[in-house]
Amino acid sequence: MATIRLGDEAPNFNANSTEGSINFHEWLGDSWGILFSHPSDYTPVCTTELGTVAKYKDEFDKRNVKVVALSVDGLESHEGWVKDINETQKTTVNFPIIADEDKKVSELYDMIHPNEDSKLTVRSVFVIGDDKKVKLIITYPASTGRNFDELLRVIDSLQLTAYHKVATPANWKHGEDVVVSPSISTEDAKNIFTKGVKEVKPYLRMTPQPNLN
Ligand code: BEZ
Repeated sequence: MATIRLGDEAPNFNANSTEGSINFHEWLGDSWGILFSHPSDYTPVCTTELGTVAKYKDEFDKRNVKVVALSVDGLESHEGWVKDINETQKTTVNFPIIADEDKKVSELYDMIHPNEDSKLTVRSVFVIGDDKKVKLIITYPASTGRNFDELLRVIDSLQLTAYHKVATPANWKHGEDVVVSPSISTEDAKNIFTKGVKEVKPYLRMTPQPNLN
């Protein structure tokens, strides 16, 4: 297992899932992707997490993001648990869950942290760009459910900064002013960002979010 770092190509794999067998890169196609692991089926926090992801499908679709979950439980377990998620979270699970019983994908993506738990995956999140490169890695312990609003916020930032020479400041949310990338001069920035550039300091230049009407 090699360490996966930001900017690396997301390792490809074949796996069984609740939506049939998946070749990861083919399944991603031209979309962005989220690969996220959970410790175990039939557990409370995971149940709320997967239900929440199902309810956010429209938000992921809007951003051209496909989502796939994973744990080391088997397909039969996933299929039974999905019924519970649908019932208790009042939704319909609408994304594949990988059955990684042989831990092939978990090990490839270093999702088992032995000093936390020797057998189960932690709550890993990998955001993968439409170029198949890893854009974001976040890891939570089993005891802390993820904030999927934060994940959408980060995807907004990743997609904005992939296509515009800007960066997003602390606590930024879609629609708020952004920071001009340090790689461009204020003079060039004024030509590029026609909505205006405010120079707070020579290294701190603010501009309205460029991809809004
Ligand atoms: C949960 O999803 O609730 C959970 C899973 C493993 C350990 C602790 C909590």
